[in-house]
Amino acid sequence: MAEKVYELIIIGGGPAGYNAAERASEAGLSVLLAEGRALGGVCLNEGCIPTKSFLYSAKIFDYAKHSADYGVKFDGASIDHSFVVDRKNRVVKTLTGGVAAAMRAHGVDVVSAYAEILGRSATGFEISADGKKYTGRRLLVCTGSSPALPPIPGLRESVASGFGLTNREILDLREVPKRLCVIGGGVIGTEMASYFGSVGSEVTVIEMLDHIGGPTDTEIANILKKNYEKRGIKFMLGAKVTSVGTSSVTCEYEGKQVEVGCDKVLIAIGRRAHTTGFGLEKLGVLCERGAIVTDGRGRTNVAGVWAAGDVNGRSMLAHTAYREGEAAVRDMLGVKDEVNYDAIPSVIYTNPEVASAGLSGDAARARGIDVIEKTVTMKMSGRYLAENEKGDGVIKLVVGREHKNLLGVHMIGSYASEIIYGCAVMVEKEMRLSEIEKFVFPHPTVSEVVREACFSIK
Ligand code: NAI
Repeated sequence: MAEKVYELIIIGGGPAGYNAAERASEAGLSVLLAEGRALGGVCLNEGCIPTKSFLYSAKIFDYAKHSADYGVKFDGASIDHSFVVDRKNRVVKTLTGGVAAAMRAHGVDVVSAYAEILGRSATGFEISADGKKYTGRRLLVCTGSSPALPPIPGLRESVASGFGLTNREILDLREVPKRLCVIGGGVIGTEMASYFGSVGSEVTVIEMLDHIGGPTDTEIANILKKNYEKRGIKFMLGAKVTSVGTSSVTCEYEGKQVEVGCDKVLIAIGRRAHTTGFGLEKLGVLCERGAIVTDGRGRTNVAGVWAAGDVNGRSMLAHTAYREGEAAVRDMLGVKDEVNYDAIPSVIYTNPEVASAGLSGDAARARGIDVIEKTVTMKMSGRYLAENEKGDGVIKLVVGREHKNLLGVHMIGSYASEIIYGCAVMVEKEMRLSEIEKFVFPHPTVSEVVREACFSIK
């Protein structure tokens, strides 16, 4: 019997890979998906979903601590962190099981092993996995990323000893560390500082830049920082970690070497794409700065090879990975589709939530666009006032001065993570304020502030 030739082989079963597998299979392609670990990738197993499970428990605990502000009184609240970890594991298991079921339902062949690219033959791309050889006419590389561990003295050793943790290990800690040092005030750093700060750790965040939240609008990042400081989280900004010991982290801070004692260290200083160790170089796929170079349709420089998700280093978000996987499959099918990287929403699921879509004022100006920036308080919303004692949430619009078209929305406060998708649609369509003003928003909701903000720009 002739060897089966798949129409598509996908390496990596995270959001880019499993979603692309579903879409390709629905379109009639025969698909093989190779995944060496659990299906679902970082997002389901050690990223988006488990952290949201943690953060939801922390949010309930925070509400309980402040319930008297809303007239609800009871005798103390406590949190059982080990229970939170067990619950997180149940949520993850349900979802990863769901992905496996979806693959079966779509007729996708799954090989549960790491794949190695062997090369290219007359029939297609050849890979080996679990001791077997497979051939596919097309290849989609969705191998994701892992935490960056730069050559800081003691950093790798700390991970080996269990003193240093990445986003993976911290989610399985059974005890809340008394003192937690977080290296990196980006997305992972702020979310985990939020959780562990809420459940009782003394948290110190060491961040190299002069603000937290990475590319988050600085006005909004500063509001987030103030909220954290009120909860006792300490920040050392403009501080560069120089070494990690066995019970402390040393950094250069305000011209001095400062040692921060702690019981655990979270290392959250970015991620590196997985482009090596599985034979990619045999195909001559172009990589730059450690990531596969792709266009908006997921095409690499090699015909027949596409890449999607963190491995292209472009946005490193699960929802971008989904979209990139879909765009790549459409391209394979000859359907024109292109990812608009300017309208991808991003969310930091801290309490309060931070969300944005589109350009910041600075990014727009760097492109030579004359913009109006307008920040309005969420207190314009009756619902926000009713639900937030001492809330300081805001929504900021970035609007092109000439056409009054919406280029960016940035916010901090209740429901920001849910409101932002509507804003991302408006940004994607570059809607003019006069068009948005004609939409009816439900009342009373915090989302109404987006519409009010439009009216405040003349
Ligand atoms: P990140 O890139 O968001 O932040 C890393 C931070 O570490 C930066 O602010 C950087 O200035 C700082 N840093 C680097 N070297 C340092 C040093 N030696 N000393 C002190 N600070 C240093 O990376 P992070 O937080 O590790 O997250 C990784 C990826 O995961 C991101 O691409 C993010 O988009 C994604 N992610 C997304 C989430 C979401 O969408 N809610 C949640 C968690 C992660």
